[in-house]
Amino acid sequence: MKNQRSKFSLPATGIYLNCGYMSPMLKAVEKAGMEGIRRKRNPAGISSEDFFTTSEVLRKEFAKLIHATDPGRIVIIPSASYGLATAAKNIKLNPGERIIVAQEQFPSNYYVWERLARECKAVVRTVAPPDTLIDRGKKWNERILDEINPGVKVVAIGNVHWADGTRFDLEKIGIKAREVGAKLIVDGTQSVGALPFDVRKIKPDALICAGYKWLMGPYSIGLAYYNESFDGGTPIEENWINRHGSEDFARLVRYQQQYQHGSLRYEVGEHSNFILVPMILAALKQVNAWGPDQVQRYCKEISADGIRQLKAKGFWVEDDAYRGQHLFGIRFPQGASIAAMKDRVKRNKISVSFRGDFMRVSPHLYNSAKEFNRLATVLLGNK
Ligand SMILES: Cc1ncc(COP(=O)(O)O)c(C=O)c1O
Repeated sequence: MKNQRSKFSLPATGIYLNCGYMSPMLKAVEKAGMEGIRRKRNPAGISSEDFFTTSEVLRKEFAKLIHATDPGRIVIIPSASYGLATAAKNIKLNPGERIIVAQEQFPSNYYVWERLARECKAVVRTVAPPDTLIDRGKKWNERILDEINPGVKVVAIGNVHWADGTRFDLEKIGIKAREVGAKLIVDGTQSVGALPFDVRKIKPDALICAGYKWLMGPYSIGLAYYNESFDGGTPIEENWINRHGSEDFARLVRYQQQYQHGSLRYEVGEHSNFILVPMILAALKQVNAWGPDQVQRYCKEISADGIRQLKAKGFWVEDDAYRGQHLFGIRFPQGASIAAMKDRVKRNKISVSFRGDFMRVSPHLYNSAKEFNRLATVLLGNK
């Protein structure tokens, strides 16, 4: 795949290796947003059908990305925390039952489980990585699998760790979770769009994605998937559009006990958002046209040489099999000053994130091998 920078409006100076923070805006997404804003100049041009049609196309586009057969399983959410709150609201635990999370998981996928555990007198079991950097990702995966025993009712985890990119083998985790009767709740915010995700293989009970990172969408809109185990559940809000027959505006106050089909009862109010929905739809069309496997391949290609140079000088990066190519941590050699590294990176106008002990690098198709090599040169103290 060729470099895709021309599809974005990134400035000529500076190196943006930080999609894990927020994706830059595709020109096509910006255009869709501007059209969405302009549309409200004349509301007479917005019909009652318009409340339903674009969101249905969006559900289909996301279903395609995650290989879900039924778009009725796809739900528009405003944030990952909203989608996770829906999952947690519909899980009842008995005292002593366990919820598994990875250590230092993103807060939106932690606090919700901490609260559920408190309310049900259940337990959150946090699985830490091993103390060694040798086979760190492999051993962390093994530790997680070892913890999934009878009494575990929820495994809430990402496909990659948001801070250091450790890749969790969700197919294996899912098999073990199903064996013990635990639900698998995946936070796909830092992976879906850039790392292939197939619901037919992983079989998550829920998959929750904020939209502004690897889905290349705007802020405040994301997408979720809930399987049949959430059918008949209780949404966290009751809005008119999620009720059966809401397409008929003349009958909205013939109050209706039935919800829309599939998982649509869980959609956020005002999910027809006439600005954000066309934007994330334009983004997903591009994401699907690229294909997440191509993103992995491209990021691997452009980072290989820089990583080789860094490793030769004592920097540490996880083995390929246990990390994303689109998001990974670089750990500094012993004795290196994190503050000095931060300063050097900043002075050279390179945008990355510092998370815990790691520098998190998250490239995409707008980056190049030249940019990555520049990062390596800067970290090695040659600039
Ligand atoms: C793994 C992960 N999940 C979720 C989020 C965002 O959560 P929310 O949409 O609740 O703000 C982030 C943001 O960095 C993240 O890294």
